[in-house]
Amino acid sequence: MRMVDIILKKRNGEELTKEEIDFFVQGYTKSIIPDYQASALMMAIYFQGMNKRETADLTLSMVNSGVTIDLSSITGIKVDKHSTGGVGDKTTLVLAPMVAAAGVPVAKMSGRGLGHTGGTLDKLESIEGFKVDLKLENFINNVNEYKIAVCGQTSDLAPADKKLYALRDVTATVDNVSLIASSIMSKKLASGADAIVLDVKTGNGAFMKTLEDSFTLAKEMVDIGTNLNRNVIAMITEMNEPLGYAVGNALEVKEAVATLKGNGPEDLFQLCIELGAAMIVLGGRTTDMAEAKQLLFNTINNGTALEKLKTMVRAQQGNAEQIDNLDLLPKAKNIIEIIAEKEGYVKVIDAEEIGKAALIIGAGRETKESPIDYSVGIILVKKVGDRISKGDVIAKVHINDLSKLEECKQKLNDAYDLSIEFPEKRPLIFGLVNKEGIHKY
Ligand code: URA
Repeated sequence: MRMVDIILKKRNGEELTKEEIDFFVQGYTKSIIPDYQASALMMAIYFQGMNKRETADLTLSMVNSGVTIDLSSITGIKVDKHSTGGVGDKTTLVLAPMVAAAGVPVAKMSGRGLGHTGGTLDKLESIEGFKVDLKLENFINNVNEYKIAVCGQTSDLAPADKKLYALRDVTATVDNVSLIASSIMSKKLASGADAIVLDVKTGNGAFMKTLEDSFTLAKEMVDIGTNLNRNVIAMITEMNEPLGYAVGNALEVKEAVATLKGNGPEDLFQLCIELGAAMIVLGGRTTDMAEAKQLLFNTINNGTALEKLKTMVRAQQGNAEQIDNLDLLPKAKNIIEIIAEKEGYVKVIDAEEIGKAALIIGAGRETKESPIDYSVGIILVKKVGDRISKGDVIAKVHINDLSKLEECKQKLNDAYDLSIEFPEKRPLIFGLVNKEGIHKY
């Protein structure tokens, strides 16, 4: 078999066989196939697409490129959750303790963020001492003992995806349904959970900008999981503005803790209740979504969810005092108010631009090696539907390097799209996809 023939076949819009896909994935993982040929194939797939069978074969081939984790020594149904990526998305920090406190084991393997802001691991690492590199044995022990652990994916888990995702990131080939679905599902399948809740973001801050594409991606991922005997549910959720008010690592930890205390932003709290209830149902604790939501409300009202977060922080060697006293978390030297240049109702906040504004001041990574400044970020003051008058504060920038302020400010102002009339409110959840099919709300 020759790689050039596989590229040609896909370039001409033909279907690849399982053997051709395996040849490419295994060869690329072992660096026998060079980046330039892999890039050409990714671009051909981007334009010609792949059918369901090819997508499933690519997923399995990437799972088989590394180890698969056996979580069978954890008692109960292990439920994982994955978001396709959004700005201000700190749901795992809130959801995981709530679901664990409601009695369903959460064994979560997370990634770091490339682009905009940090990923879940970066957010957790803004807590002093917090270890995300757990040995599998410790990860399993923690889930058995405390019902919760969040750790980083090891490099031997779906290594083909690790290489390919990094390549796609720099060759403009990320936002393709088949490539995203196989990338996410290969990691989820290799990391051993029995059931998976997917949060598929839709809107300007998501990979999938339109509802139609978001439902298609969700269906593709649910079908891959269902065919491999995993119970998978995907919810299509709003990303036409950042989630909550905080964007930036330590700032997001603070907002997550406020949410666990019952004082968080409404959109973040509601999303955690919806996704969490789906996790509780898949975890077999109840079959009734309303009861699952009540169980989650209880964990907030009786303080057990917050306690669970502290238990996890201690179990992973973090300083739980910083959760009790949020002032001990990293703090930026300056807090600068951004004043509105226009007036009207906030129609849309371009979440991607907000993410870039946060990246400029150091909240995210430009490259895999870039350091992150945990203390910096943005607190939005105005969200979609709010009225802005000239001179109002629209956001507060937590910043150390003031030379980056002007650029950040410009992006923030550009991100706000105002209208004269009160905008139509978009729902937080647009629908769900499960093994029975697509359910639009
Ligand atoms: N997240 C992933 O893990 N892979 C993608 O391709 C896109 C988002």
